[in-house]
Amino acid sequence: MKRSILKHSTMIRAIEIKKDFPILNENAHRKNLVYLDNAATSQKPKSVITAMTRYYEEFNANVHRSVHKLSELATEAYERAHEKTAQFIGAQSGEEIIFTKNTTEALNLLAYTLCKNLKAGEEIVLTEMEHHSNLVPWQQIAKEKGLTIRFIKVGKDFRLDIKHARSLITDKTKIVSCVHLSNVLGTINPVKELAQLAHKHGAVMVVDGAQSAAHLPIDVKDLDCDFFAFSGHKMLGPTGIGVLYGKKSLLENMDPFLFGGGMIAEVTLTDVKFADLPAKFEAGTPNIAEAIGLSAAIEYLEKIGMTTIAAHEERLTEYALVRLSTIPGLTIYGPHNTTRRGAVISFNVEGIHPHDLASALDRYGVAVRAGNHCTMPLMNRLGINGSARASFYLYNDTRDVDALAEAIGKAKTLFKV
Ligand SMILES: Cc1ncc(COP(=O)(O)O)c(C=O)c1O
Repeated sequence: MKRSILKHSTMIRAIEIKKDFPILNENAHRKNLVYLDNAATSQKPKSVITAMTRYYEEFNANVHRSVHKLSELATEAYERAHEKTAQFIGAQSGEEIIFTKNTTEALNLLAYTLCKNLKAGEEIVLTEMEHHSNLVPWQQIAKEKGLTIRFIKVGKDFRLDIKHARSLITDKTKIVSCVHLSNVLGTINPVKELAQLAHKHGAVMVVDGAQSAAHLPIDVKDLDCDFFAFSGHKMLGPTGIGVLYGKKSLLENMDPFLFGGGMIAEVTLTDVKFADLPAKFEAGTPNIAEAIGLSAAIEYLEKIGMTTIAAHEERLTEYALVRLSTIPGLTIYGPHNTTRRGAVISFNVEGIHPHDLASALDRYGVAVRAGNHCTMPLMNRLGINGSARASFYLYNDTRDVDALAEAIGKAKTLFKV
């Protein structure tokens, strides 16, 4: 992350923010929850829950289908969600925003549509740190089409080897797809530089923004990526809504992924003319309440400001890296400073299996994730079977980091290591 983010930021008072999140409230079912599993999914503020309930209680109807008032209101809210999302990531308009179920569906859509006309021997470039969502769809289609996948190496510093990237991306490359912020290492990848490399060779650049969209200011125009995918549930929104941004000129020339109602302009018994963007890629009744929830989540994030959120997380990560690295036997997998690094810290404690560690931490009220984090090839690259992972968000503060460190200390005593 750039130093300038810290300089220009105002401070977040996480203790005040927590009050907006019913599950984190003092009176919540689980008292004093220290929630550090934000990379898996975030908690939801009251405003998101209320926006969704309001839709169901006050203007529930299908979109784009009827002329009655309720449908008009639902359609307006649904279309507004496209516009709001576009403006949140610096897209031109809502036409460039396709709502999907999640990042995974967005990446599947891309794998199938972008590879449809590729020829055997043509190449896709990924990295060794991809989530299975940005690996398996490409693998499947590559097998079917005889495409070759090449992988940019992860160095000892937990960063992409850019020299290697330069040698891998050639005129044979048709697609480069890379995670923006690693859900394991916390590394923020130079996707802008990769986009330049991809474009130099006539390839398209896909960014898996599942972890970055929630935590960093995103400007797709500045990144100059062709596609950018992310999930609502990791950024204070509900589950069931994901986003695929695509440059309009590219989306217009791509075939739809799913077919049916809602995505057509005209149908005869033998042929079809597809609807304009974004409807062309949104077959069937969409997740209307979830789109409205995402819109409310974006409003909440924008009220605080993504630069402020990024700076808060940078301070917290700095604090956590220092605090955790003083614990004997604890190994961190990821950059040890906050330069181009997000608020995800993966670690192991010598002598304790990560699942046992996470269970023990849960006993002490600290929720972290353990396992391979859907990145088995990266685990192999790191020479581990899994890790524990603490991931922070705007409602966390140094007290949560202290609680984590103290709970790790208690777990060590429990397991006698
Ligand atoms: C980097 C990354 N990519 C993709 C995904 C998949 O997101 P979803 O499960 O919302 O489709 C995740 C989820 O953890 C992720 O961390």
